[in-house]
Amino acid sequence: MSTSNTTAPSTPEIGQPSATAAAPTTWRPTTPAEERPARHDLLSKEQVGFWEAAEPLWLNEQRRDGAPAEIDALLAMLEVPPEAAVLDLCCGPGRHTIELARRGYRMTGLDMTRTYLETADEAATAEGFDVEFIEGDMRLFERPAAFDLVLNLGRSFGYFSDPEDDVGVVRSAYSSLRPGGAFVVETIGKEALIRSFRARSWREHQGRFYLFELTPNRNWSWIVDRTIVFDADGGQTEFLFSYRPYAASELVSLFEAAGFVDVQAYGDFDGTPYSFTSKKLVVVGRKGGAD
Ligand SMILES: C[S@@+](CC[C@H](N)C(=O)[O-])C[C@H]1O[C@@H](n2cnc3c(N)ncnc32)[C@H](O)[C@@H]1O
Repeated sequence: MSTSNTTAPSTPEIGQPSATAAAPTTWRPTTPAEERPARHDLLSKEQVGFWEAAEPLWLNEQRRDGAPAEIDALLAMLEVPPEAAVLDLCCGPGRHTIELARRGYRMTGLDMTRTYLETADEAATAEGFDVEFIEGDMRLFERPAAFDLVLNLGRSFGYFSDPEDDVGVVRSAYSSLRPGGAFVVETIGKEALIRSFRARSWREHQGRFYLFELTPNRNWSWIVDRTIVFDADGGQTEFLFSYRPYAASELVSLFEAAGFVDVQAYGDFDGTPYSFTSKKLVVVGRKGGAD
C-alpha cells in the first residue's frame, strides 16, 4: 500500500519500495527510544504515520467487536490443534491476536506500526498473556516451519506497488508454516468491490464528515483510495493510499503458485461460498506434507 496523510494536494501513486532490506527486529517496549534499532529500512515515516493516523478510518466499533465471532468461525472451519503456534501477520492493535491468546494459542503478532504494537502488548500483558510482538515489514519476515497457522486479516494484503512483493508475502507465509499448517488471507474481493463501486461517497461519524474517492488505475489492478476528513472546527486532513484488489481466482492462483494445496475461496470466515455480493474474500491454503 502506498500511504500518506497530508493536507497537500494528493499525488496519485506512491508505492512502497520493493523488499530487499534487512530482517525485522523483535520489538521490546522496555528499550529506551534512542537505543532502539531502526524499525524498518523500507518504510518511510509517512507510511508508518499513515497507519497511526488512519486508525479511526478502518477500526470502527463494529470491526473491533466482531473479532471474537470471526475467530470462532475461523477456528470451527480450520480445526486448529490446541496450543498451536499462530502468526498474526499485520496484527494491528491485536484484536485477533488477543482473541486467539485467550483460546490458548501461542501467539506471535507482526506489524510495522509501533503504536499498534504498544496497544496490543498492553492488552496482552493486562490479561497475563505472553505474546511475542515483532515490529517489522511483512515482506521481510520468515521463520521456517515455525507456525501451525498464519493469518493475514482485516484487508492487510495487496499493499505493494510491485506485485512481486505480494507473491513474496505468500511464499514467506508458506515457508513459515509447518507441514499441514494453514495460511488465511481475508480481504475484499475484486468482484464485490466492482459491484458496489462508487467513485465518490461520503459519511458523517461522530461530528466529522468523511469524503471518499476511489480511482481505479492500471486496468483495475490498482485502486487509489483518497479520503478527506473534515473536523467540526474546519480542520481538514487528507489520507491517500493504494492497494491491489484481487479476484478470488487471482488470489487462489497466488497461493497455488507458492505451493499451497487444497486452496479454497470463501465469502466469510465460516466457509460461506464466495460470490460477487460477499463482503469478504477469505482464501485458505494448506501446506502439504503432513503425516
Ligand atoms: C487494515 S489494518 C488491519 C490490522 C489487523 N489485521 C486487524 O484486522 O485488526 C492493516 C495493518 O497492516 C499493517 N501494515 C501495513 N503495511 C505493512 C507492512 N508492509 N508490514 C507489516 N505491517 C503492515 C498496518 O500497520 C496495519 O496495522
